[in-house]
Amino acid sequence: MTSTSTSTRTSASATPLLRVRDLDVTYRGSAGSVPAVRGVSFDVAPGEILGLVGESGSGKSSVCAALTGLLPAGARRRAAGLEFEGADLVAMRERELRRVRGRRLAFVPQQPMTSLAPTTPVVRQLRWYLGDRLDDVEVRETLLGIGLGPVLDRPHDLPGGFSGGQLQRVVIAIAALAHEPALLLADEPTTTLDATVQAQVLRLLLTLRDKLGLAMVYVSHDLAVVSTICDRVGVMYGGRLVETAPVREIFAAPRHPYTRALIAAMPATTPADRPLRAVEGSPDGANLLPGCPFAPRCPDVLDVCHERMPDPIRHGPNEVRCHCVGRGDGS
Ligand SMILES: Nc1ncnc2c1ncn2[C@@H]1O[C@H](COP(=O)(O)OP(=O)(O)O)[C@@H](O)[C@H]1O
Ligand SMILES: [Mg+2]
Repeated sequence: MTSTSTSTRTSASATPLLRVRDLDVTYRGSAGSVPAVRGVSFDVAPGEILGLVGESGSGKSSVCAALTGLLPAGARRRAAGLEFEGADLVAMRERELRRVRGRRLAFVPQQPMTSLAPTTPVVRQLRWYLGDRLDDVEVRETLLGIGLGPVLDRPHDLPGGFSGGQLQRVVIAIAALAHEPALLLADEPTTTLDATVQAQVLRLLLTLRDKLGLAMVYVSHDLAVVSTICDRVGVMYGGRLVETAPVREIFAAPRHPYTRALIAAMPATTPADRPLRAVEGSPDGANLLPGCPFAPRCPDVLDVCHERMPDPIRHGPNEVRCHCVGRGDGS
């Protein structure tokens, strides 16, 4: 197995592995067009885990679909830049994109276990997926090394005989190990799991990052989960990325009023399984507003917030899009 240790985490200032600039995703349907992602820009450095967090409907899955080229028919993706390992994902032909996807850019959807064949033993599927790169001894060593050794002791068991959490970890292991991805996109992979199992999945993801030097975009609606695994966090609301910062800064010095509201809504002692309490008001329709999508719920709102979305500004290590930040009113 080609494991390279990455105990040294690459800083965000290194050449990015993934570079996203002004990404828009718009769905078109009978009810009109839905701007799901609006002007989203971020980088992911090699070996870095970026968390994308936000309430349901904020556009997180649409960002993932735009990156993997898996948007449904009728959806439109536009970007000033969408580069992965220096290659332009927008300009790529489908065949080329398919080669990148799954090999260099692995995707783990919300319920990954549904991608296993139900009538073939799990161990046989593992050997089949990993067999191109690893012989049987290496498969055993690798799975033992990431805590999945017990699966090998059940060579005849079908997926139905394993728990959801075990299958989730098997599929994540396949996504990370079958080829040599540089980036793993995980869209709420632990949302359906209970706390203990969720912790096992998160531990596996961290092990894979440390053993393989994988970078990740980890999507969750739960800031508590994100805080346990990510190096940096991007906060989405109404299709906009409103704040990006190192995970420590997000908690120590959140700049955007929405980030503050998210943190304030977390219980003082935050078990990882506790869902985020809703911030007062509703995000419905936020992605249609011309100004800041959080303006109707924002305690610091100014007139200009309803009219115009501010450009991102750097505030310490945070990048934030808020008219209030920098005015000396609590920012
Ligand atoms: N296939 C689709 N057709 C039309 N609208 C969609 C589609 N998928 C998502 N949306 C809309 O796009 C917005 C963002 O959705 P999504 O990216 O799934 O957010 P999240 O993953 O943060 O919950 C929502 O308003 C949602 O209703
Ligand atoms: Mg989603």
